[in-house]
Amino acid sequence: MAIDPKTVESDRVLILDYGSQYTHLITRRIRALSVFSLCISGTSSLKTIADHKPRVVILSGGPHSVHTPGSPSFPDGFVEWAESNGVFVLGICYGLQLIVQRLGGEVRVGEKQEYGRMEIEVEKALGLFGSKNCGDTQSVWMSHGDEAAKLPQGFEVVARSKQGAVAAIQNPLRRFYGLQYHPEVTHSPEGMETLRYFLFDVCGVKASWKMENVLDEEIKVINETVGPDEHVICALSGGVDSTVAATLVHKAIGDRLHCIFVDNGLLRYKEMERVMETFERDLHLPVTCVDATDQFLSELKGVDDPEKKRKIIGKEFICIFDDFAHELEQKLGRKPSYLVQGTLYPDVIESCPPPGSGSTHSHTIKSHHNVGGLPKDMKLKLIEPLKLLFKDEVRQLGKILNVPEGFLKRHPFPGPGLAVRVIGDVTLGNYLDTLRLVDEIFIQSIKDAGLYDVIWQAFAVFLPVRTVGVQGDQRTHGHAVALRAVTSEDGMTADWYPFEGKFLADVSQKICNSVRGVNRVSYDITSKPPSTIEWE
Ligand code: XMP
Repeated sequence: MAIDPKTVESDRVLILDYGSQYTHLITRRIRALSVFSLCISGTSSLKTIADHKPRVVILSGGPHSVHTPGSPSFPDGFVEWAESNGVFVLGICYGLQLIVQRLGGEVRVGEKQEYGRMEIEVEKALGLFGSKNCGDTQSVWMSHGDEAAKLPQGFEVVARSKQGAVAAIQNPLRRFYGLQYHPEVTHSPEGMETLRYFLFDVCGVKASWKMENVLDEEIKVINETVGPDEHVICALSGGVDSTVAATLVHKAIGDRLHCIFVDNGLLRYKEMERVMETFERDLHLPVTCVDATDQFLSELKGVDDPEKKRKIIGKEFICIFDDFAHELEQKLGRKPSYLVQGTLYPDVIESCPPPGSGSTHSHTIKSHHNVGGLPKDMKLKLIEPLKLLFKDEVRQLGKILNVPEGFLKRHPFPGPGLAVRVIGDVTLGNYLDTLRLVDEIFIQSIKDAGLYDVIWQAFAVFLPVRTVGVQGDQRTHGHAVALRAVTSEDGMTADWYPFEGKFLADVSQKICNSVRGVNRVSYDITSKPPSTIEWE
């Protein structure tokens, strides 16, 4: 249960996704203009599209060619439906070609393929290019092989590339528009203004999607859904999403929300104390903190395989959660009815799959990063209040809910915690404690250097190898640790952060001087791909 996107009281832009890598960027750019936008599969039925009652439909780009049999397209009847309902349609890249082809024009394989930064000349400073803030010559980002050869009747060319290819078309009478380039990427510097002008001045959309409204709508829905005697549970991870989700639900139903935070012995230095302080002091959340260190570590004893470690951790977590729910049932005299989860929009978006994949829909669900599942026999209904939001929107919502800024900016931390940062058996020696100290020095140094917010995720890894060293005139045989810091947009791809040599030298010295048993520090300089961010 979350707000039904169809009930959002705001002008709505619906994006039909044909698989472009930039589709979600369009969604975000439009939301950044305070307009609610939603992305659905480009092959959705006409009923699905119409049910959303969009004011504007954007046909996204995509890797397909309109000439390939079976390439994705909008449903039959779409053009008639749009025209009879006063809906504006904007095709971007592949979307423009769909408009041209389906409305009776012609698309052909371009003589000169256009990829990358290009110059376009605006021929008509009207409609799409009516904004006074845009120039007649613009630098834009193109990525296409096919091109519009003959426009459908009633359409006009409004911009061309320097090579003469059609760069933008429109038919204001029928309310159909098309851009051959990507206005949503930063490489099209005037693209954002073009989108803004199109939505507000051409389509007359109102800017009414505000986080304050989202908060009010969510609270209303939660109150209408959860009965006055019903109880809700939530497992907090210490991360941003579950914390914001719980804070929101708490605001709606108060102490009928029951949260649990599990110390599995795999947390960072003073992590339990730090997050509990935020939960209790700043957010006044009702949280039961369970110290299950012994339980987790005894199950993990002797286990080397990272997948096995993940499974064990997932299973133990479910056991503890199950006990918590049963204890609550005893105490309250009734079963909790709902479970809060911090699922975000990127986890549920359904996209068009790439050409040749053989499927018609693809779900981007990052299940491999979730710790197990929750007990099915508990039959809890779900509350997922963040299901329509992107990460930056969750942070905005958290800010309105008074979640401390420092907490909202925390780097992501994997559910299995330090178990995926100690290579091999995590219970050997004092590996976990050593890693905690090293990690703390590294993170604190990053904060002191003012780099914490520039870096997407940083951490230390414990390597169970011994290397020779010399400390205080003595030969040592200590452990090696690795440091990792990456920049990234969403964790799907990442690059290593280029610290200055002096910074790394200082951190290394601090670690070797203050953490017993460590005599070697290395810095990971691989990107993702080919490596992943975490080591295990
Ligand atoms: P990788 O290492 O796959 O990580 O590039 C991408 C992001 O996901 C986090 N991560 C995990 N999170 N359980 C989690 O909850 C996991 O098993 C897991 N493995 C990686 C990682 O910290 C990074 O933010």
